[in-house]
Amino acid sequence: MKTIGIIGGGQLGLMIAEQAHVLGVRAVALDPAPDAPAFRVCDDHIVAAYDDVAALDRLCRMSDVVTYEFENVPGEILIPLCGKYNIPQGYKPLYDSQDRLREKTNARNHGLQTPGFAAVDDEASLRAAVRELGLPAVLKTRTLGYDGHGQMVLKSETDIERALPLLTVPCILEEFIPFDSEASIVMVADRERVVSFPVGRNIHRDGILDLSIVPAAASQEVLDRMKAQSERFMRECGYEGILAIEYFIRGGEIYFNEMAPRPHNSGHYTIEGCTTNQFRELVRYLTGEPLQEPCLVAPTVMKNILGQDLDAARAVEREERPDTYVHIYGKTESRPKRKMGHITFVGITGEEYERQWADRFVR
Ligand SMILES: Nc1ncnc2c1ncn2[C@@H]1O[C@H](COP(=O)(O)OP(=O)(O)O)[C@@H](O)[C@H]1O
Ligand SMILES: [Mg+2]
Repeated sequence: MKTIGIIGGGQLGLMIAEQAHVLGVRAVALDPAPDAPAFRVCDDHIVAAYDDVAALDRLCRMSDVVTYEFENVPGEILIPLCGKYNIPQGYKPLYDSQDRLREKTNARNHGLQTPGFAAVDDEASLRAAVRELGLPAVLKTRTLGYDGHGQMVLKSETDIERALPLLTVPCILEEFIPFDSEASIVMVADRERVVSFPVGRNIHRDGILDLSIVPAAASQEVLDRMKAQSERFMRECGYEGILAIEYFIRGGEIYFNEMAPRPHNSGHYTIEGCTTNQFRELVRYLTGEPLQEPCLVAPTVMKNILGQDLDAARAVEREERPDTYVHIYGKTESRPKRKMGHITFVGITGEEYERQWADRFVR
């Protein structure tokens, strides 16, 4: 029996482990939190800091193959491990995604359209970038941002002053795209092929994903182009394993926003909404099994459950409705804005969700 080692024990690790078990594969995870969600389902686990070299070594020795479920594994740690152990995705997709400036430059160099952007390190370069890109614009820290943290929309010149405190770390200024919608695609690639999951529309609230609605609200031509350019990008970059790309859609234009070389929150709908899911195909990739092309089972809506919606989600769970799949990650501490679970509604459209379900959750 093969064993997958997962660096990180959050909900993504939990779902990788669940799907590993479906395929008869063991899973072990390393996480600094003794109550990490993935530990509940993993066959073994290690409580240790992500920079604990001896502990990471132990994880790798326990595993036939190793993956990561969070984006900020530092190169100094992963690169030496990649030389010694079987970590087939390698460090490159992480490296390319860990800095927003590098990430967008790389996307552009591979032919993807991005919002206009410029590096910003101090007040002078911020003012120069605003002159170049115009307002509104979005200022983001180059590293470690997530769920809208570390960013600020600049609407007028007076916002420049307010933005200065962010400049204690290197930043990027981006042209603001008044998008019609946001969308994302999740792909899994091995040496031979790339399979991709149906594109979903993503609705964020306060910078955090709220809903994924599949299929996405765009023309078939735009969706086909997004799939073709994403698959080409993954190939040309030489990435293997899993990659998610977030886009803005405006008219017929598609703008690359960011990417992540790990399972993606917007791909949770695939567990019940598709014939195979993002976690299972990642496990197939890691264990050298042939990848399977996913198909959408029915229109599907995924609702993220943050702390403030946990009670409502438990109530939905108690109703035991068909085609309604409640996932609670088992995090011991619930906080507003913390991702505590998700619910997948199979067989309903975005409009039906609004009519039948939206009122059940905090608006
Ligand atoms: N250039 C932009 N134009 C318009 N909206 C943006 C832009 N950049 C970010 N946003 C909004 O902020 C959200 C979070 O930004 P993102 O770069 O994806 O950071 P995070 O790593 O926090 O997900 C996006 O999903 C989008 O709604
Ligand atoms: Mg994002």
